[in-house]
Amino acid sequence: MQYEDFIEHDRIIDTIANYYDHPPAAYVHSFGCQQNVNDGEKIKGVLLQSGYNLTDNVSEADLVVFNTCAVREHAQQRVYGNIGALKKLKADNPKMLIAIGGCMVQQREVIDKLRKSFPYVDLVFGVNAIDKLPGLIAQRIRSKRRVLGEPVERYEVVENLPIHRDSSFKAWLPIMYGCDNFCSYCIVPFVRGRERSRKPEDILSEFRSLVQSGYKEITLLGQNVNSYGKGLEKKIDFSDLLALLAEQEGDFRIRFMTSHPKDASRKLIDTIASHDKICNNLHLPVQSGSNRILVQMNRKYDIAQYKGLIDYARQTIPQMTFSSDIIVGFPGETEEDFEQTMELVRQIRYVQLFTFIFSPRSGTRAAQLPDETPHQVKTERLGRLLKLQEEISREEAAALTGRTQRVLVEGPGREEGQLAGRLDNNLVAEFAGEKELIGQFATVTITGSKGIYLTAELVK
Ligand code: SAH
Ligand code: SF4
Ligand code: F3S
Repeated sequence: MQYEDFIEHDRIIDTIANYYDHPPAAYVHSFGCQQNVNDGEKIKGVLLQSGYNLTDNVSEADLVVFNTCAVREHAQQRVYGNIGALKKLKADNPKMLIAIGGCMVQQREVIDKLRKSFPYVDLVFGVNAIDKLPGLIAQRIRSKRRVLGEPVERYEVVENLPIHRDSSFKAWLPIMYGCDNFCSYCIVPFVRGRERSRKPEDILSEFRSLVQSGYKEITLLGQNVNSYGKGLEKKIDFSDLLALLAEQEGDFRIRFMTSHPKDASRKLIDTIASHDKICNNLHLPVQSGSNRILVQMNRKYDIAQYKGLIDYARQTIPQMTFSSDIIVGFPGETEEDFEQTMELVRQIRYVQLFTFIFSPRSGTRAAQLPDETPHQVKTERLGRLLKLQEEISREEAAALTGRTQRVLVEGPGREEGQLAGRLDNNLVAEFAGEKELIGQFATVTITGSKGIYLTAELVK
C-alpha cells in the first residue's frame, strides 16, 4: 500500500492549522530500538507534511509525540515518568496535544492506564499506523474528545511514508517488520505483529536514493533479518538482498541487525566475505550460554551450533568481530547456567555486549515461569558479566594498536579539536581533525585505547 493512496490531506491540514493561532511546532521523542527510531523519523516526516514544524524543546511544543518501547519494564516506567512531566506543560498551554505511539500502546492495559491515570493524553496511535497520525490529530480536534480506542493489529506494509532523517550520512533502512519467533521472554511479536518483508524493489529504490543523497552508512533493520523474504512472490533470501545492495555503485558501507543465530547461515558469512562494502561485524545475540536456558527461552539453537557459526565466520573472515545481547537472571537460571554464559563470553571475546536483567512481560510465556532467584543475585551476576566484558573490550581495543583503518567520521570527539569516527567493527576511534570531515570517510592509524575508545591519528 502506498501512503498517498488514502489520506484526505487538505481537510486534515486545514483542521490542524485552524486549531492553533500560530504555526504549530511538534516535539517527537523515540524511546526504543533502531526500528523505533526509524519510525520516529517517519512520524516527523508525516507531521512536517501536516503543517507542523519540528522542535527539540518540549516546552515550546504544540504537539508532543512519544514513540514508546515496551521491551522491558524499565523502558515503560521511563515513558510514564516522561508523560507525568507533561502535566505541568499542558496546564501552561492547554492547546498542547499529547500523542502516544509505539510498542507500548499495542497493549490494552497500557491504554487503560493512560485513560485512567493520564487524563491529559489526547490520543494513541498504533505501531503500524504512523500514516494515520494526522487523521487522528484532526479527529481529536474536531470531536473535542480523547482518541484512545483499543489496540489495533494492523500488518499492512505502508510504503512511501514521508521521512525526516535525524542524520545526513547514516540511515536506517527497514527491510521487514514484526517477528514470528516468540522467544519466551519477548513482547515484540505481541506488539509488532507478524513478520512481513518489504519487496526487494521497494528496498532497492530507497537504498539507491539514500546513496544518491550522500548517505555513507546504511543499516538494514529487522527483528530477524535472516528470515527476510518469507511470503514474497519473488524467491529471495537475506544474503541475496545483501549482495544486491552491496553491488550498487557508490561510496557507502552496509550494516544490518538483528541476526537470529538459528537463521544466520554460512551463505550469509560467504556473502559478507565477498563484498567489501558490508561491515565485518556481526551482531549475533546469544542471550545465554546454557543450553538448558536456551530451550526455556525458545531460541531453537544450542551453543555448539552457535559456536560452529562463529568458527566458520572467523575462518572465512579473520578480522570479523562479534557483538551480542545477553539476558541475566532468566527464570530458573542457576549459578552453573550463568557460569556457562561467562565461559562463552570468555571464548567468543565479543567487542561489544548489551546486557539486560530479565524483565517479566505480561502475556509472554516466561512471565509465567517460577523465578526464585533474588534480584540482588541477578544484579551481582550482571556486575560480574559487565566486569568481564570490560576487560575483554579493553584488550580487544588495545590489540588494534598500529592498524590502519577506514572510519566514518560521526561527529566531534569528547575533547576540543577531536573527532570521533566509527570503525567497521563498530568501535569508536578519536583523533585530531577538522570538523569538515564529519559525515565523510577517513583513514586513521590506531595509536592506543582509553577504555572503550580508541585513540588514533588521521592518515589522510
Ligand atoms: N530481535 C532482536 C532484538 C529484540 S529486543 C533479537 O532477537 O535479538 C533486544 C534485546 O532485548 C534482546 O536481544 C534481549 O536480549 C533483550 N530483551 C528482550 N526481552 C527482554 C526481557 N523481557 N527482559 C530482558 N531483556 C529482554
Ligand atoms: Fe524478540 Fe526473539 Fe523476535 Fe528478537 S527474535 S524480537 S528476541 S521474539
Ligand atoms: Fe523496539 Fe522496544 Fe518495540 S525494542 S520493537 S521499540 S518494544
